[in-house]
Amino acid sequence: MFTKSEIIEILKDDSKNEWLFALADKIRRDNVGDSVHLRGLIEFSNICRCSCKYCGLRSSNKKINRYRILKDELLHYAKSAVKMGYKTLVLQSGEDVYYTTDKLTEIIREIKKFDVALTLSVGERSFEDYKAFKEAGADRYLIRIETTDRNLYSKMHPNMSFDNRIKCLKDLKVLGYEVGTGCLVGLPEQTYESLADDILFFKEIGADMVGIGPFIPHPDTPLKDENKGSFILALKVMALTRTMLPDINIPATTAMETLNPNGRIIALQSGANVVMPNVTTSEYREKYEIYPNKICIHENPDKCRDCISSKIQSIGRTISTNYGFSHNKE
Ligand code: SAM
Ligand code: SF4
Ligand code: FES
Repeated sequence: MFTKSEIIEILKDDSKNEWLFALADKIRRDNVGDSVHLRGLIEFSNICRCSCKYCGLRSSNKKINRYRILKDELLHYAKSAVKMGYKTLVLQSGEDVYYTTDKLTEIIREIKKFDVALTLSVGERSFEDYKAFKEAGADRYLIRIETTDRNLYSKMHPNMSFDNRIKCLKDLKVLGYEVGTGCLVGLPEQTYESLADDILFFKEIGADMVGIGPFIPHPDTPLKDENKGSFILALKVMALTRTMLPDINIPATTAMETLNPNGRIIALQSGANVVMPNVTTSEYREKYEIYPNKICIHENPDKCRDCISSKIQSIGRTISTNYGFSHNKE
């Protein structure tokens, strides 16, 4: 457990990185064990009403080829993923208003018939919507705070409100979801202090999952000329998060692997215990371009599951066969 000033010192000083990564790896092993949870990710719509400055799916990006996967096809992907052995599915999309409360609850109910844990990541919705999704069977919800620096938050998110983001996280907690959040590392003007605040925020809200990703500039966004985030700094924020929240679920993120060809394995050895392979086919993968050079866009679901499973086993870890709820509450 570190204080804010210790966190800032560790973030600034690269001479202790190996010590930090080994410490986070040990805390991960002691608290959540050696098994890695695989979550099957279905990116079901790249249509978004928001205009987050960093994201390729932002509504103002007219160059992107938009798609929406409708119910039957979505259920087909879900079913095949469950057959492949996935115990959790993650439904992620832009903030696409086509998916009304009724449409989404119907999809949730159908997916829950496959005996699988279900995570949603569809952005900001009302308390009533989150309640309806929970009652339909959704177990978990991912919504990153992105940054706890209010000023930076408002610069990055035109027409969005930091307070509403916090409200969403609180509503989800009240409703009994396992709540996942996280931040982007390397946003323009972001400071070490604000990253330390991000880590303390994850603890304060009692996050069950935290996903940390380096910012990667997309050529068709206002941030196209900014520097990309640092892989090592993102890894350090993730490792520090593990030291502060020993028993939560932490994914080795796709954005980390985009910046480093072995990024997910390095993350799994520095505090992470989850990987989220994509379970849709390449026609959709390449269109869900939140940032450029995303990994696995030409692969299929079988190939990714085999690929990541053998990498995980090659470092002496196992693939979990349970639902992977947080705090090991199976
Ligand atoms: N629309 C939902 C939301 O924003 O919560 C879910 C989908 S959104 C594409 C998922 C995550 O992608 C965001 O939380 C954000 O952190 C990440 N992301 C978007 N653009 C990115 C970029 N250029 N580099 C790295 N991560 C990015
Ligand atoms: Fe939309 Fe999410 Fe991208 Fe923001 S980060 S533009 S809400 S898809
Ligand atoms: Fe997709 Fe390796 S995880 S090819």
